[in-house]
Amino acid sequence: MGTVGNRERGGGIVAIRPPGDKSITHRALILAALADGASRIGGALTALDARAMARVLRRLGVAVSALRDGCDVVVQGHGLRGLRRPTGALHCGNSGTTARFLLGALASFRFAAWITGDASLRRRPMRRVTEPLTAMGARFEEHSGDGLPLVIRGGALRPLTYDMPVAAAQVKTALLLAGLTGRVTVSLREPARSRDHTERMLQGLGLPLQVSGGRITLEPAARVPGFELDVPGDLSSAAFLLAAAVLGVGAAVQLSGVGVNPTRTGALRVLERMGARITLESAGQRLGEPVANLTAVASPLVACDVSPAEVPSLIDEVPILAVLASRAAGESVFRGVQELRVKESNRLALLAANLRGLGVEAEASDATLTVVGTDRPPRGRVVTEGDHRIAMAFAVLGALPRARVRLSETASAAVSYPTFFTDLREVRRGR
Ligand code: S3P
Repeated sequence: MGTVGNRERGGGIVAIRPPGDKSITHRALILAALADGASRIGGALTALDARAMARVLRRLGVAVSALRDGCDVVVQGHGLRGLRRPTGALHCGNSGTTARFLLGALASFRFAAWITGDASLRRRPMRRVTEPLTAMGARFEEHSGDGLPLVIRGGALRPLTYDMPVAAAQVKTALLLAGLTGRVTVSLREPARSRDHTERMLQGLGLPLQVSGGRITLEPAARVPGFELDVPGDLSSAAFLLAAAVLGVGAAVQLSGVGVNPTRTGALRVLERMGARITLESAGQRLGEPVANLTAVASPLVACDVSPAEVPSLIDEVPILAVLASRAAGESVFRGVQELRVKESNRLALLAANLRGLGVEAEASDATLTVVGTDRPPRGRVVTEGDHRIAMAFAVLGALPRARVRLSETASAAVSYPTFFTDLREVRRGR
């Protein structure tokens, strides 16, 4: 095989190392900022979303080295009480994870901090975090409506026992971070299990976090130790290449070092039901996170029926699953996907409209997306509204033989997967 950057080709199979996991990179950066002393993060995501987190942490007085491909990130934490009054606005770019984690981490600091983001992020709901944080004792100003910008002014916190109305890992993590920096007990129950990277990481670092009977409880801890972590590859990014291989746009793909935490692998289970030939070979664990090498080859697909209970485990993969459903035999139904309305765009509406614009029968109702498979080549224009996962999902569809798909923009891929278009081209060239 010949090697170019993160790719290798040979024998009709393209080997790619997907970018670092976005969720794990965010958690590693913020926990390292709250740790005692230096932490080293290898394989971190270097895309815009991760840079947003690094930038705001620097504004809070934490030394975070540059995020560059192939280089470890070194963070000099000043301990749980070590964040400093910011030198200006905390601009979170497109990153909802950065904004929500920050709200939690800052809830126990007495200074005021102004938090904002790009037009997409300013529209996203923040009350799901500010309400329980208010119950803990934090205050919010200039918070009109549900979005950003807002000013957080923290203080001494009260313990929290809370039944979360939505299964949202960003909310869960924000509240755990508030408990951690405010040194009060936080006890949460989720309506369904969302990704549990935070719980695994806190436990891996020896913090007093327990999960029992569906309740997650973090007791006050004196400190977070500095740590070393190699971030697994992001399954949510890998999913676009797996889909390209399954659709037969070109070569088969082999993706190495991908995180396969079971709270993230719902899409793999759905793909299996659809008939996709994807194999998984275990490649060990990294700070409590299982890792695997995945291989995908062209496969005929049948429609899927996704239940509300499995949605949290595949929430970021609905765009690419919907694209696959448009090439599967029969009608696919995604139930309980209302959370898609409050992602980087209204993904539920945008998926249905764009699929229809390409000649696919698709419908979005309150909480359900239906897609009828076809083998007519997709042709037309896709409006991404700057949403990275919409752009990448439809780029995969546009890579089909005889497709003619134009995207309104492609720059948004840099939010989570800067080398996506080069990697997709490699898969196509294997055709
Ligand atoms: C994330 C959680 C998910 C996901 C997002 C990243 C995280 O959102 O969509 O891309 O890192 O915790 P929810 O908070 O809605 O679960």
